[in-house]
Amino acid sequence: MSKVEQLRQQIRRHEYLYYVLDQPEISDAEYDAMMRELQAMEQADPALVTPDSPTQRVGGAPREGFVKLPHSSPMLSLDNALNEGELRAFDQRVRDLLGGESFRYVAELKLDGLSMAVQYRDHSLQLALTRGDGSEGEDVTPNARTIRSLPLRVPGERAAFEARGEVVMPNAAFQKLNADREQEGLPRYANPRNSSAGSLRVLDPTITANRQLDFYAYFLLADGQPARGSHWEALEELTALGFKVNPARALCEDIDELLAFCRRYEAERDRLPFEIDGVVAKVDSVPQQQRLGWTAKFPRWAIAFKYAARQAETVVEKIDVQVGRTGALTPVAHLKPVAVSGVMVSRSTLHNEDEIARLGVAAGDTVLVERSGDVIPKVVKVIREGDPRTPFQMPATCPVCGSSVSRPEGEVVSRCLNSSCPARLIESVAHFAARPVLDIAGLGDELVKQLVKAGLVHSVADLYDLTLEQLAGLERMGTKSAERVLAGIARSKTLPLPRVLNGLGIPFVGERTAQFLAEHFGSLDALRDADEAQLQQATEVGPKVAQSIRRWFAEERNREVVERLRAAGLTFTHQKVDRSGGPLAGMTFVLTGTLPTLSREQAKEMIETAGGKVSGSVSKKTSYVVAGEEAGSKLEKANELGIKVLSQSDLLAMLGKLEA
Ligand code: IVH
Repeated sequence: MSKVEQLRQQIRRHEYLYYVLDQPEISDAEYDAMMRELQAMEQADPALVTPDSPTQRVGGAPREGFVKLPHSSPMLSLDNALNEGELRAFDQRVRDLLGGESFRYVAELKLDGLSMAVQYRDHSLQLALTRGDGSEGEDVTPNARTIRSLPLRVPGERAAFEARGEVVMPNAAFQKLNADREQEGLPRYANPRNSSAGSLRVLDPTITANRQLDFYAYFLLADGQPARGSHWEALEELTALGFKVNPARALCEDIDELLAFCRRYEAERDRLPFEIDGVVAKVDSVPQQQRLGWTAKFPRWAIAFKYAARQAETVVEKIDVQVGRTGALTPVAHLKPVAVSGVMVSRSTLHNEDEIARLGVAAGDTVLVERSGDVIPKVVKVIREGDPRTPFQMPATCPVCGSSVSRPEGEVVSRCLNSSCPARLIESVAHFAARPVLDIAGLGDELVKQLVKAGLVHSVADLYDLTLEQLAGLERMGTKSAERVLAGIARSKTLPLPRVLNGLGIPFVGERTAQFLAEHFGSLDALRDADEAQLQQATEVGPKVAQSIRRWFAEERNREVVERLRAAGLTFTHQKVDRSGGPLAGMTFVLTGTLPTLSREQAKEMIETAGGKVSGSVSKKTSYVVAGEEAGSKLEKANELGIKVLSQSDLLAMLGKLEA
C-alpha cells in the first residue's frame, strides 16, 4: 500500500474512534498533524487525491440549487402509536397477521432529526439524498460528506449498498448554535430537528461542516431491498461498516418487553445527548416483514411509539425587551412559572417583532410552551387571549439607555444605536473576556457588571488600564482574584489577531469570519482600510458582513477603541502568506462546473497558492474561466465577454503540473 493510502487509513481509524465511538486514542494536536501531513502530500501531488480521502470532506463551492433524484426504493414513514393501547393494538394486528408464529421486535430510539439515504459504490460514498417526498430526494452529497461520523469509505466485503438513517444535531451543538445566532441577531432554531434540516439543506456545504451534525444509521439496503434477513443483524453489519448505530436498542420477545423499553427511555429522555420523540419498533425478521407488507402509506411491520411533547400551559405576565451586545433588542416573555416535564420555566424568548406577530401573542394571554433540546423553552401558540391583554410594541427608545432604536430595512431585528449603551457595554465586555475570545480568566459576567457600574470600564479598552487597587477594591474581590484577572488581561495581549477581531463585537463577525478576515488581510489596519468590495474578497464575506464591518469602523468611537487596544499591545497582525511572486499572481479565475478530478476547493487552493485570485462571478476583470462538466451560465458569460476558457488540464499546465 502506498504511503499516502497508509496515512489515510490511519486518519480514518482515528476519525472513527473519535466521531463514531467517542473514544479517541490520540490528541487533537496529533490528529491535526496527521491531517496536515496528508494535505501536504496531496497538495504536492494532486494526482494522489481521491474523493474518499479524509481531506475531501469539505469541498466544492456553494451550489445554485438542489437536484432531485429518485430513491432506490420508496422512503416511507411510520404510523404512530400515541399511547400504550395503540401500541398493544399494533402488536395484536402483527400477531393476527403472522397467524401465531413466533417473532421478535427490534426496539430503537426515534431520533428527532431528518432522514437521509446514503449510497456507496466501490466502498465509497457516492450519493446522499434527503427523504424529500419519499420517492425523490434532494441531492445533498457535498453537505453530507462534512458529517464526520459518516464514513466516506467503508471496509469489508460489501462494496455497493445503501444506508438509511437520521441526521441529528446533538443538544450541546444545538444550544451553542442558538446562543451564537442570538448574539448575531439571527432567529433561534425552535428545535434540533429544524436546525438539522436547516444545516443539511443549505447550498453552501461549509455551513453544514460547521454545524456538528451526526448520522445514525438504521437501515442497510442492497438494490433497494433489506440487505440482511434480520434487522438486528443489519444493525450489527452497519456497525461493522463503521457507521454510528445507536447502542440504545433491544431485541424484544414480546409487547411487554417492548413497552418496558419505551418507558425506560422516556424516563431517560432528558439525559440523552440528543432529542428523541419516541421509540421505533420493527419486526426483526425480514421474511416476516415481507409477509406483513405495507399499507398505502406505512409498513405493517413497524410503528413509532410517540412520547408526549414536553409542553405546558401558562400565562404571559409581561413582555419586555433585552439588549444584547450588538444592540439587538430581543422581546422576552415573562411567564407565570410552570413545570415542563420536571423543569421550571419562567421565561421564553420571542425573538423579534415578526415572531410576536406570527404567534399573535400579547401580555395576559394563556400560551402553550414547549421544551425541545434547548434550555430555553419556546412559545408554541396562544391558547386563550387574556382579558385584559397588552399588545407588544417595540419601544422607540432603548429601555436601558434611552437612545433611539432602529430596524434597518429587510432585517427582523431592531437595534439600539448607542454603542456605549450600558447594556451593550456589559454584554460586549463579557464577550471580549469569554474563553473562546480573549480568554480572560476570572472576568465573568458579575465582575463585568461591577466594573461598568463603578464607572471603571466604558469600553473594552479600559480593561487594559485597570489597576490592582481598583480591582481589589470591588465587592467580593481580594488581592488574589484581582491578580488573577490582571494576569488574564496581560495574557490576552499575546493571543492572535482572530481573537482580537472576534472580541471587537462587529455584528456578523464571529469566530469563523474573524479567522478568514485575519488570514485574508493580514492586519487589523488592512481590514480597517478595506472597502466593501475588497472585504468581499475574503472567504465567506458577503455584502451584509462587508457592510457591517464598514459601518463599525466608520464610527469614531470604535476607531478610538482600536487605537487604545493597539497602544495596550494587543496583536494587530497575522501571518499572511505572500504569494505575489507566484506564477498566477495578478490573475483572476472563475471556476464553474465539475472538474474531472479536482474539487472546487482544491482548484481554488491551488490557484491561490500560486498567487492567483478566485472570484465567484465573471466580469471583464476575469482573466480565465476554468470550466468542467455541466458548466452553466458562467461559461455563457465568459463566451459573451470573450474571456478565455480553460480545462482542468490547461490550469494544471499553467501551474506546471501534469494531470491531476
Ligand atoms: S424507520 C419505513 N427508525 O422517524 C421505516 N425511523 O416516522 C421508516 N426516525 O421518517 C423509518 N429514528 O425520520 C426509523 N430508528 C429509527 C428512527 C426513525 C428516527 C424518523 C425517520 C422517519 C420517521 C418515521
